[in-house]
Parts: sequence; C-alpha cells; structure tokens
Amino acid sequence: MSGPKRKTILITGASSGLGAEMARQFADLGHDLALCARRIEKLEALRAEIVAAHPDRRVELRTLDVNDDEQVFEVFRGFKKDFGSIDRVVINAGLGKGAPLGTGRYDANKETAMTNFVAALAQSEAAMEIFREQNAGHFVMISSMSAMRGMPKTMTTYAATKAGVAHLAEGLRMELHGKPIKVTVIYPGYIASEMNEGIAGDQPLMASTEKGVQAIVSAIEKEKASACVPPLPWAPMSVVMKHAPLPLLKRLI
Ligand SMILES: NC(=O)c1ccc[n+]([C@@H]2O[C@H](COP(=O)([O-])OP(=O)(O)OC[C@H]3O[C@@H](n4cnc5c(N)ncnc54)[C@H](OP(=O)(O)O)[C@@H]3O)[C@@H](O)[C@H]2O)c1
Repeated sequence: MSGPKRKTILITGASSGLGAEMARQFADLGHDLALCARRIEKLEALRAEIVAAHPDRRVELRTLDVNDDEQVFEVFRGFKKDFGSIDRVVINAGLGKGAPLGTGRYDANKETAMTNFVAALAQSEAAMEIFREQNAGHFVMISSMSAMRGMPKTMTTYAATKAGVAHLAEGLRMELHGKPIKVTVIYPGYIASEMNEGIAGDQPLMASTEKGVQAIVSAIEKEKASACVPPLPWAPMSVVMKHAPLPLLKRLI
C-alpha cells in the first residue's frame, strides 16, 4: 500500500498547541513525523499517544531551542539522516510575548522578534538546504492573521514578525515558481492553544484546537499557496483587516 504524498513531516514547536495537534492529525493521515521543541517530555508523551493509535507510524524526536542557530541546523540535518528525506517542513515554533513600544519592555518584544523572525529565518535556511539538495519538498510557514496589518500595543512586534515570515516564504515561492519545491503560508485566526489560554473565554472568534488545526492540515495537504484559517470568519476578515479605514479597524481589534 502506498503512503500519503509528502510522507515525512518535520514540525517545529510540536510540544503543544497547534504543533502538537498538527502532529496528531498528520499521523491520522498516515504521515511519519520529525518533532522538535524544548520540552522533550511533552514530545515523548505525544509520541506515545500517536504510536498507541498508529503503531506503524515512525515518530522521531529531538530537543530544539530555535534560538540556538547551530542546534537548528544540527537538528534538521539529524532528522534528514534519520529518515533519508524530509518531504515537508512546518515552521511553527513561536511566541506571543509583547508590550506597547516605549513602555520599558524591549526584552519581551526582542524575545518575540528573535524567536518568531530570526529563528524562523534559521529554520528556513535549514529547511531549504534539505529541499535544494533533494530538489523536492513542501515548505510551510505558520504566520498569523495579525500579519494582515500593523497591530497596536502588545501585538505590534508580534504582528511585524508574522508579516516578516510571510514575506520570507512568499519570496521563496516566487523564486521557486515552476520548480518541484512548493511553499504554503498559513494565516491562523484565533485557535485555542497555550499561547492564548488567558483570553480563550473572552474571545468569541476562538476556534477549538481540533477544528482550527483541521483547517490548517486541510490547507497544507492541498498545498495551497496561502490560507486564512479557519476560512470563516478569517478569509473575509482578511479583506476587512487589509482595507478598513483605521478608525473602524481600531474599534474592531
Ligand atoms: N493559536 C493561535 O491562535 C495562533 C494564531 C496565529 C498564529 N499562531 C502561531 O502558531 C504557532 C504555534 O503557536 P500555538 O498557538 O500553538 O502556541 P503554543 O501552544 O504556545 O505553542 C508554541 C510552540 O512553540 C514552541 N517554542 C516556543 N519557543 C521556542 C523556542 N525558543 N524553541 C523551540 N520551540 C519553541 C513551544 O515549545 P517549547 O516551549 O517546548 O519549546 C510550543 O511547542 C506560533 O508560531 C504562533 O505564532 C497561533
């Protein structure tokens, strides 16, 4: 029996939230997994859960702090060696810390900028090294709906990093157009995860982790160029977010 297309998937930030649920749902679809994050015990528990449900899936784990450049390359190359090829990489590790600019919290904003943008660049370099060598692969960047427009206050730096990573991926897509390496950018709206635990009860647009990730996995499996997820309300909302006059948008955010 032949397995799914893009058999082996590497996911960063797989220890919780969207990354862990993507791992579960991709395993359900028959994929093998290369999973990494800092909290190895969480990855071990996730692997036990996946292998219990699907004893024939291969799941390899590595500890990774994406802010450690050398470790990013070591881990990606190590997974490539384990599996022989990596067919898809999902750059998902991210952080939601932030404070209004000029309020004494450069540390929080810098941490978000380093993890969400500079470390995503390192992961993109490491993924593309593998894909160029294979002349094949699917590059997936997890951006955010907040990339649609500059965002106020605690979101300012976060939104800028997510616009930055979307552009990185879009640049690659233009370079690789017509070649065997494909590029997808995912723009999630609110999906329940550790990152937004604090606001889950107050946010009417929050999707459950399972439903939100179903929309992500569906868009990735279709290898869409880009997708706002879940499509409702976020696809129409993307138009509003890009074009609404500032006073109106400020009231909506
Ligand atoms: N949930 C949403 O509503 C939403 C919306 C838009 C975009 N996103 C994006 O989706 C991605 C996943 O976030 P989430 O919502 O699932 O949040 P989460 O539950 O907090 O998960 C974040 C993941 O990133 C990993 N991570 C953070 N810093 C890391 C580091 N320095 N090195 C390695 N891994 C690191 C964490 O693993 P360790 O702590 O174990 O290292 C964890 O697995 C992020 O890029 C986020 O910006 C989420």
